[in-house]
Amino acid sequence: MEQRALFIIFGGTGDLAYRKLYPALFSLYEKGYLKEHFAVIGTARRPWTDDHYHEVVVNSIDDAGHDVSRTNTEMARKFASHFYYQSHNVDDANHYVALKDLANKLDDQYELNGNRIFYMAMAPQFFGTIAGHLKDQNLLTDNGGFNRLIIEKPFGRDFETAKELNDSISKAFNEEQIFRIDHYLGKDPIQSIASLRFSNPIINALWNKEHVDNIQVTLAESLGVEERAGYYETAGAMRDMVQNHVLQVVSLLTMNRPEIYDAKHLREKKVEALNNIQQYTEEEAKQNFVRGQYGADEIGSQLPYRDEEGTADDSEIETYVAGKLVTHNSGLAGVPIYIRTGKRLAKKSTQVNIIFKGLDKNIFSELTGKKEIPTNVLTIHIEPDQGYTIEMSSKSGNQGYDIQPHYLRFRMTSEEKAKVPDAYEKLIHDALKGDKTNFAHWDEVSRAWKLMDVVRKTWDNTVPEFPNYVSGSMGPKAADDLLERDGRKWEFNPLK
Ligand SMILES: NC(=O)c1ccc[n+]([C@@H]2O[C@H](COP(=O)([O-])OP(=O)(O)OC[C@H]3O[C@@H](n4cnc5c(N)ncnc54)[C@H](OP(=O)(O)O)[C@@H]3O)[C@@H](O)[C@H]2O)c1
Repeated sequence: MEQRALFIIFGGTGDLAYRKLYPALFSLYEKGYLKEHFAVIGTARRPWTDDHYHEVVVNSIDDAGHDVSRTNTEMARKFASHFYYQSHNVDDANHYVALKDLANKLDDQYELNGNRIFYMAMAPQFFGTIAGHLKDQNLLTDNGGFNRLIIEKPFGRDFETAKELNDSISKAFNEEQIFRIDHYLGKDPIQSIASLRFSNPIINALWNKEHVDNIQVTLAESLGVEERAGYYETAGAMRDMVQNHVLQVVSLLTMNRPEIYDAKHLREKKVEALNNIQQYTEEEAKQNFVRGQYGADEIGSQLPYRDEEGTADDSEIETYVAGKLVTHNSGLAGVPIYIRTGKRLAKKSTQVNIIFKGLDKNIFSELTGKKEIPTNVLTIHIEPDQGYTIEMSSKSGNQGYDIQPHYLRFRMTSEEKAKVPDAYEKLIHDALKGDKTNFAHWDEVSRAWKLMDVVRKTWDNTVPEFPNYVSGSMGPKAADDLLERDGRKWEFNPLK
């Protein structure tokens, strides 16, 4: 169904807008969710004309892989004609007057019913200033349309700065109007976690402390820091990946079943799940978290992190984090959740492994002389593969009763994957509909910071021995020790 709205994009000349937002809006246009009744104002300081802006928008959708060369050229041009550029320094209150006039004009011209989406595709230090001016200069409509704010991570550096940021935007927007993007929540396989858990009786029946031994979450990247060193030096893997994406995934894995699947009920259960992750003391954080930074690879063809362009020679920032969390949420109370994320690891893979408890007895042991039988493992593949694997055990193809693992596999084909909407397309569409199911609530963000702040604090008080893992490995040895001390090992190991 067609949605009516004016998008005002702060940071309209930036990387996020170019690579993600314009292509996502075009996809919505191609599918008819946006038609005649939408307009976009892009703002930033550089003095672009509307014509130049249209070229940029068409190039961005071309670069993103949309066909704009032949049949689609006219459509792309028509789409771009809805875009208007307004040169604007967000610090200057006077500029909001011109912005308001243009917004009101476009509202009439495109019959937008006063619906406005303010998209902050800029550094977070500007969010409070922009929100304040939007309110003071009356850019928020009050004629029955909606005013929604979309903001990007990073949402603060710790609980204190996140709270300051939240307070500053809350002066103009209430929680219901704020859409905090965690693009992992826009990914189809992440959204599928709840459907897998709560629409399969066999999975639902086993997803509890009686049957689950431990849960493992891996977000492994094979690339290094690439051209993001400037940002990464101040963020590190903990702030970049763990506080947001990893903990969001953990909340979906450990939450109790919502009454119905909507934003309100899901949020309640996710907040409850995060509140029930054990809050560590500094000593516990030290025992249960490991950090790492990559060195060169074994043949010296990959640079160590500290030699990458833009990083400090003595950088203490982590490119790897592993940790053990414990949930006290009723269904899974006491089940350990091992998490890890890192750069320059052996293989790119995001996946979740649910390792089930073994049987207390192998009745075939007399026949085979083997006491152990393999445990069952459910793997949820998130990227690059999407799908599931269930590891089961049975005899097959042998004379006796030698129990072997077998794998039930489902993978989406590349054709199927190509049809899945991109995370930004999904999330912008949700924001247009006012559906907050896949956005992070302040209660989630703030709790996640509190859980991780204590880890950061212990790390900031000690000097790490970096580098401590080889590029192309699966991280530092201490991350393996974290599981070995519990008698366990990482399920995903491409080097095995
Ligand atoms: N890029 C990504 O893939 C990505 C992914 C996740 C989150 N994010 C987050 O999204 C935000 C934007 O990232 P980005 O990569 O797009 O950054 P970027 O390429 O540096 O873009 C920043 C934008 O802000 C504008 N700007 C800077 N100062 C301004 C001012 N005083 N007044 C008006 N405009 C100003 C810049 O344009 P002018 O120089 O023309 O003013 C530019 O359009 C950041 O918070 C980032 O962490 C980005």
